Amino acid sequence: MFRRVRLVFPVFALLFPWIVKLSTAIKFRSTGIINILVVITEIPSKYIKPPIDRPSLDSFHNSETDLYIPVIDISPLINGSDRTDEAMHAISHACKEWGFFQVVNHGVAPDLVQKLRAAWREFFYSPMEAKKAYANDPKTYEGYGSRVGVDKEAILDWGDYFFLYLLPESTKNLNKWPELPPNLREITEEYGEKVMKLSKMLIKAISTSLGLDENYMLRAFGGDNIAGTLRVNYYPKCPQPELTLGLSPHSDPGLITVLLADEHVKGCQVKKGDLWVDIKPKTGAFIVNIADQIQVLTNAIYKSVEHRVLANAESERFSFAFFCNPKGDMAIGSAPELVSPLSKPLYEPITFNEYRLYVRNKGPLGKSQVESLKAA
Ligand code: OGA
Ligand code: NI
Repeated sequence: MFRRVRLVFPVFALLFPWIVKLSTAIKFRSTGIINILVVITEIPSKYIKPPIDRPSLDSFHNSETDLYIPVIDISPLINGSDRTDEAMHAISHACKEWGFFQVVNHGVAPDLVQKLRAAWREFFYSPMEAKKAYANDPKTYEGYGSRVGVDKEAILDWGDYFFLYLLPESTKNLNKWPELPPNLREITEEYGEKVMKLSKMLIKAISTSLGLDENYMLRAFGGDNIAGTLRVNYYPKCPQPELTLGLSPHSDPGLITVLLADEHVKGCQVKKGDLWVDIKPKTGAFIVNIADQIQVLTNAIYKSVEHRVLANAESERFSFAFFCNPKGDMAIGSAPELVSPLSKPLYEPITFNEYRLYVRNKGPLGKSQVESLKAA
């Protein structure tokens, strides 16, 4: 019997096999089953970051400083209970201090989440040929890939992803989604609807926390045309995690991101001052972060925050980033209500379509992209 051969490097290497140094290939026989182990002990040079971009071990100090992103129970927002103010205050504080927080008691069913994880795990474990049929389309970014389309000289991140458009309906193209496993499309659609509902509730809370009408932000970002996209991330085991990153530092371009992190394996870090702080996901929680367009609309009262993902030698890791984005063709600038007479609008208005194109062409570059919108 032939057992699955799990290769431990991302898709880009598979598309360009000559860059892969296979240092050991062991074939052995045990209990009548032939196993083939392909072990790489050195990562290809395309993934090796310059020393300044490597995750040095002293760059984060959670154990010494006890810094963790806040965990917020949002059940009052869902049930409309009298603890709404408390949850709202916690969100406002988290947005100002961190731009990142975990939400628990969010109402998305654990069963749905487990099915989503299982379906996508199966897709990523399927043979490369099956996955390549969905190869990333450089124009829409949709599909399976690595950082195709990014500057040719760029150093790659140690991760594969699948990117797809979920909402509004008009942007969804099921033919571009994996056909197998059979329940993947249905589960992913259902997950998208539930997480969009949650995202809108959070955006209302964020709006209220700034003294704005609860629907102000939803309106300003396109109402029913607010979009939802999903990036499923698969970070295979990496033999030299100290030389590379699973995902380079970046801020997310849209409104907010609702991340379903791996249940067992941590890896996402948030920049807090000069420190990279580990996120330790609570069981069943989502990790929410403020993205660039909220920074623009709030004139930087709430800021998007740089984050990155470490590579890991011991364990592979999966995550699901749901990006809630503005309608693409509206110019977004600072809300007049949030610009005081003494301050001035910090950002030049630009549409999200234009901004996203710019971000994709450059690849992850910390917070330089939203900074580049600064008015002269
Ligand atoms: C992203 C992202 C974090 C993670 O996909 O934009 O930041 O933990 N992912 O995978
Ligand atoms: Ni991100």
